[in-house]
Formats: sequence, C-alpha cells, structure tokens
Amino acid sequence: MAKKKAWGGRFGERTDRFVEEFTASIPYDVLLYRHDIAGSIAHARMLGKQGILPKAEAEKIVSSLGEILREIESGKVSFDLGQEDIHMAIEQRLIRKVGPVGGKLHTGRSRNDQVAVDLRLYLRDEIDQVRKLLAEIVETLVSRAEEWFGVVLPGYTHVQRAQPILLSHYLLAYREMFVRDADRFAEARRRTNVSPLGAGALAGSTFPLDRVFTARELGMEGVCENSIDAVSDRDFAADFLYACAVTMAHLSRLSEEMVYWSSTEFGFLSLPDALCTGSSIMPQKKNPDVAELIRGKTGRSYGNLLNLLTILKGLPLSYNRDMQEDKEPVFDSARTVKDCLMGATLLLRGMQVNEKRMRAACDDGFLTATDLADYLARKGTPFRKAHEIAGKIVRACEERGKRLKDLSLSELRKFSTAIGEDVRDAISLTHSVRMRKTRGGTGPEAVRARLSVLRKK
Ligand code: ARG
Repeated sequence: MAKKKAWGGRFGERTDRFVEEFTASIPYDVLLYRHDIAGSIAHARMLGKQGILPKAEAEKIVSSLGEILREIESGKVSFDLGQEDIHMAIEQRLIRKVGPVGGKLHTGRSRNDQVAVDLRLYLRDEIDQVRKLLAEIVETLVSRAEEWFGVVLPGYTHVQRAQPILLSHYLLAYREMFVRDADRFAEARRRTNVSPLGAGALAGSTFPLDRVFTARELGMEGVCENSIDAVSDRDFAADFLYACAVTMAHLSRLSEEMVYWSSTEFGFLSLPDALCTGSSIMPQKKNPDVAELIRGKTGRSYGNLLNLLTILKGLPLSYNRDMQEDKEPVFDSARTVKDCLMGATLLLRGMQVNEKRMRAACDDGFLTATDLADYLARKGTPFRKAHEIAGKIVRACEERGKRLKDLSLSELRKFSTAIGEDVRDAISLTHSVRMRKTRGGTGPEAVRARLSVLRKK
C-alpha cells in the first residue's frame, strides 16, 4: 500500500497501488520541473510582496526552490510514483528541506492553475527552440538556392513533367512554407504567454493575490481574464500541435522528394553517406532513412493533434483529470518537430545535385509545349487554338518518337503557318525559363529579385 498523500486528509483508506500507478503523471511530467519551479518562485515572491506570507518565509521558500532546481539539474533527485506528479514531488522536497513553512507555498494556488502555467512556460521555451530551427532551415534553403542558381530541372504536376524550373525557385518554395510555419509558432506563442496563476482551482482566490505581478515575474504578456477558462483552456497546446503538424507536413513533402530524387531512377541528387544507412543483406544499398523517418514521424505529429482535440471534446468546465493526458502528445510533438527540422537541415546542407541528370530530364517529355502554345498566342492565334495546335504537334512527335526540337520548320509549319524560324528559340529550355518573368515566377530575373529581397531582410 502506498504512502499517505498530501491531499489525504479526507481519506480513510490508502490509495490502491493500481490507482497510484494509473493516475501518476510523474514519469513524464518531470520534464516540467524547471517551469514548475519558475512558476512557484514567482508565486512565492508575490505572496511575500502582498504580505500573505511573512517576507522571510517567502524568501526562504524562494531560495530553497532555487536549490531544488540545482539538485534536479545535477541529477541528485529521483522521483517515485507515489509522488503523483512533478508539482507534488517538488512541494514534498521543499517541505522536507524547510519544514512546515514549505507547506505555505500552495497558499492561494491550486494544481489546476499551477499545471496550466507550467505547460505554458514549457511551450513558450519549446516554441522559441522550434523557431530557431526554422530560421536555420530557412537560411539553409536560401543559401543553397544562391549556390545552385541557374540549375534547371523539370517542374512536375501530377508527378508528370510539366515545365522547366530553376532549382533555386523550387528551394525557395520550401522557404515560403517554413516562414509561414515560423509565423504560426509566433502566433501560438502569443496566445500561450498569458498567465493563469491566481485562478486557483477554478473560481479565483480569497487571498489578495497580485496576478499581474506573477505574470510579469514570469515574463508573460498578460493574465487569463476568466478563472474558469484559465484552468480549462488548452487551446494554446492545440495551437502548438497544429503548428507542429503543418510543419511536419512540409518536412514530409520535402523528405518524399529527397527519397525519390535520390533513387537510381531519378538520380537528381545524392545524399551524403554520413546521413544514410545500409542494408543488412544488400551490400549495394544506401538508404535515405533520415528522410524516410521524417516522413514517417509525420503520422505521430498528426495523431498528437487529434489526440488532444479528442481529449478536449466534451469536457465539461473546468479542470478535469482527462487534461493530464495533454502532456505526452505535446512533449512528443515538440521533440519530433525539433528532431525532424534538424534532420532535414542536415540533409539540405549535405546533399549534392546532379545538374546533368536534371537537365537531361528536361529534354524529354515536351516540357516546352506550353511555350510553343504561348509562342502561337503571341503571333495572334487565340490561346485555345494555340493549345490545340501544340497538342497535335506533341502527339505527332510521340508517334514518330521525336522531341519538339527534332521537328524541322517545314514539319512544324504543317500545323500552323504562324510558325516561323524564331520558334526554335521560343521552345528552347533556357528561353522557356528566362521568359517567366512574372513576380513570383521561375525566371532567373524574378528569382534573383526575390533572393536579393531575402538577403536584405
Ligand atoms: N498532474 C495533473 C495534470 O497534469 C496536475 C493537476 C492535478 N489537479 C488535480 N486537481 N488533481 O493535470
């Protein structure tokens, strides 16, 4: 049978072993120790400042909490299931250290507002780390785009060769995605960085707490304005999980491309040995496992979002123990998104591109058929008609096993007399790319302009 609980006053029986294990969150919420201590220090300072506790007692509590932090950090502390959660574990240690005064820390506080502030502080830190990693992948994409400026490869729609594009343009597309991700995390941070402390169990407190003071001590932007909402709200955690899920979607798409672009069939790029692994049976294999695992881990990130949303659905106000289940999905997504950002950045830094293979792939598949249609349209043929003519030319090429550029001028003119000698240039690869000058387009002018805007930022 378990030891007596801090909340054991009204209980006639000891907690059942199974229940103790089943309800304990200490095996995972120990991750929150730093944030729990930070929240407690702010709360204790406020209790002292408000005269709710004698100054000396508040100071004693604050300095002992600092010691406990150092003890945990140096690995001296072990936790056990009987302590239930990190909040109880730290409070127990405090009481052991300073005696009954330690039991005054929880004045005007409940674990319900305590755990909410802990999770917010934890997520604020995680968001800052994720944003740093996002800034790194963005920087990597931009510098590789500069380095490979001029490399042309087929752009695809439906995984069918569509139009030639600049590799730089392609890389900058991912840059856009990760910049939006960083934005989403910033937004999530704003909603996270608000203090629930002072909400008590759900109804506020009978003590003259200074909620703004604790919020400021913790570097938070404001206080939750409704005590019931303060202990019930996990929207900020859902925001975080959603931001993680979208980032993972982007990383997964990038990984998918790395996987098949590095295949023998594509041969567009090669990944460094240091970032690949071999097969236990096939000696020739070099597998893109890091990219594959990033793609695979996207599943758990989506699952974590759905997990939390499902926990919240149908929960009556205010705090319910179900909410303890918010932590593992949040911790898992934080770790996953950070690891995967790191992995993808390493891959981008280490990969080499095979410019020749990319260009050769552009030669096949009528990538400049749109340019042929545009050419006819510029000569006055209505675009619909021009499209049809170019389509017929493509079909004729396919029947004869030829590429567009293999047809002679007289062969081409059989389809339209609007076609002249200048068609050669119009359907060349270089011209096709160069002509796409639209803002946001793949033409070198547009891409260079974009790169220089990004460099000025
Ligand atoms: N371990 C709990 C959680 O994570 C802390 C809050 C418990 N509150 C309570 N009234 N039992 O949610």
